[in-house]
Amino acid sequence: MFEQLYDRYTSADHKVWSMLYARQIGAIENTSYQQFKKGLEDLGFSPTAIPNFSTINERLRRLTGWDVQAVPGLIPGKEFFTLMAAKHFVSTTWIRKMEQLDYLEEPDMFHDTFGHIPLLADPIICKYLSKLAQIAAPYLNNEQVIELIGRLYWFTVEFGLVKEHGQLKIYGAGILSSPGETEFCLSPKATRLPFNLEKILSTPYPIDRFQEQYFVIEKMEDLPAIADQLADWLVINKNKIGLFIQPNAAA
Ligand SMILES: [Fe+2]
Repeated sequence: MFEQLYDRYTSADHKVWSMLYARQIGAIENTSYQQFKKGLEDLGFSPTAIPNFSTINERLRRLTGWDVQAVPGLIPGKEFFTLMAAKHFVSTTWIRKMEQLDYLEEPDMFHDTFGHIPLLADPIICKYLSKLAQIAAPYLNNEQVIELIGRLYWFTVEFGLVKEHGQLKIYGAGILSSPGETEFCLSPKATRLPFNLEKILSTPYPIDRFQEQYFVIEKMEDLPAIADQLADWLVINKNKIGLFIQPNAAA
């Protein structure tokens, strides 16, 4: 089992964390959805020290029953959803170097922890993740279905926007851990569409640049029903799934 070796982080690593944290906490002040900041507080995130998974996990298990499990890097969707079904959310433990503050080829622990972990303190997100994992369970060896579930995950958990008291707010972890995308996604330059399951399922996504579109949900409480909608869709469309995998599939 892979572990976070907390004592191995250097003072330079903690300094990188401090810089990323300071920059991003300012960016999300008025832009993240309400529960996000509460999650950061409830889980005891520090502005100056890399989160220690064992401390975070004590609080997280008490709050929602979830925990964070250290992994060496990106893992296949099959493994990701299997762990998620048992309420384990995976996170890398490495942090970028000072010279990589703005660009990374693969998400580091700042994305995984700052972006995702506060969401795990929100019961609605946890319910949604559990449902996605349950939906994925019978399809773990079906790459096409796992890809489609991955698209829904991408446009919600990673890059989702939500309306809150009449204002657009961010709940996607990929945005909440990126100062550039935090600004971009709410700007007039970004394309924002009402949530549309079938459009999402037929949309391959870029991983190396800002998203070409963001999908807006009406309220966070809609997420569990969105998962149910996916489950129904997979049953109704079981013979058409291949069509949606094509890059330019018609929705
Ligand atoms: Fe992520």
